[in-house]
Amino acid sequence: MRLSDRLQTIANFIPKNTIVGDIGTDHGYIPIYLIENKISKKVIATDISKNSLDKIINSVKGTKYEKDIDMRLGDGLDPIKPFEVDTVVIAGMGGLLIRDILDKDKDKRDSITNFILQPNIATEELRKYLYENNFEIVDEKLVKEDGKFYEVIWAKKGKAYVDQDIYYEIGEKLLANRDPLLEEFLNNRIQMNEEILKELEGKETQRTMDRYRELTENIKELKVVLKKIESN
Ligand SMILES: C[S@@+](CC[C@H](N)C(=O)[O-])C[C@H]1O[C@@H](n2cnc3c(N)ncnc32)[C@H](O)[C@@H]1O
Repeated sequence: MRLSDRLQTIANFIPKNTIVGDIGTDHGYIPIYLIENKISKKVIATDISKNSLDKIINSVKGTKYEKDIDMRLGDGLDPIKPFEVDTVVIAGMGGLLIRDILDKDKDKRDSITNFILQPNIATEELRKYLYENNFEIVDEKLVKEDGKFYEVIWAKKGKAYVDQDIYYEIGEKLLANRDPLLEEFLNNRIQMNEEILKELEGKETQRTMDRYRELTENIKELKVVLKKIESN
C-alpha cells in the first residue's frame, strides 16, 4: 500500500506497536498500511457510513490482514471500548466534527494516549478545544497535496497553553520545527485574507465592517509570525 503524502504524514506520527483506532476510515488505507508495515499489531477501523466501511471490508476480506483489522460501523468513538486502543486517528473531516467526536464521551477519550488529528477546516477551533481540555500538542506537520495545505496534529493529554491567540490558528510546533511549508502556508493565508478584504471594500454594513477589521488584524498577526520565521 503506497499512501498519499497526506496519509503518509498521518501514518508517520503513529507510534509503533500501539493499538490504533482509525475513526472515519473510509477507504481504510491507513489500517492496511499499518498492518502491512508491521507498525501496529491491531487496528480498529470504524465509520459512520456503511458505504464507506464496505470499502475497507471489501479490500480486506479474504486477505491475511483480515484477522488484524477489526471493522466496525458507528459514530465517532462509539464503536471503541474504553482502553481498547492507545492511539486514535481522526482524519479528513472538519475540525468541529473532530472536536465533537472527542468531546462526546470524555471518559473514553481520556483512556486514549495518542490523538493523530487532521482537520480539513476549522483547525483553529480544534486547537482551541485541545488547549482548553487538557491536551498538549506534541508535534505538528504541514503537508501540501494537490495544491491544498493540510495540518496534521499529534496531541496527548497534558497541560499546555498558548500565550497569543494567533497560535490557535498557526500551530506553535510548526514554528518551533521550522516546518518547511510554514512560510508558504502563511503567505497563502495572508493572500486569501487580502483577497476577501478587496471584496469587502466599499460595503458598509456593520457586519462587513466588523469582518474587515477582523481580517486586517488577522493579517497583521500572521505577518508577525512570518517575521519570526524570517528572523530565525
Ligand atoms: C473524507 S473521509 C476521510 C477518510 C480518511 N480518514 C482520510 O483521511 O482519508 C471522511 C469519512 O469520515 C466518515 N465520518 C463522518 N462523520 C463520522 C462520524 N461521526 N463517525 C465516524 N465516521 C464519520 C465518513 O463517512 C467518511 O467515510
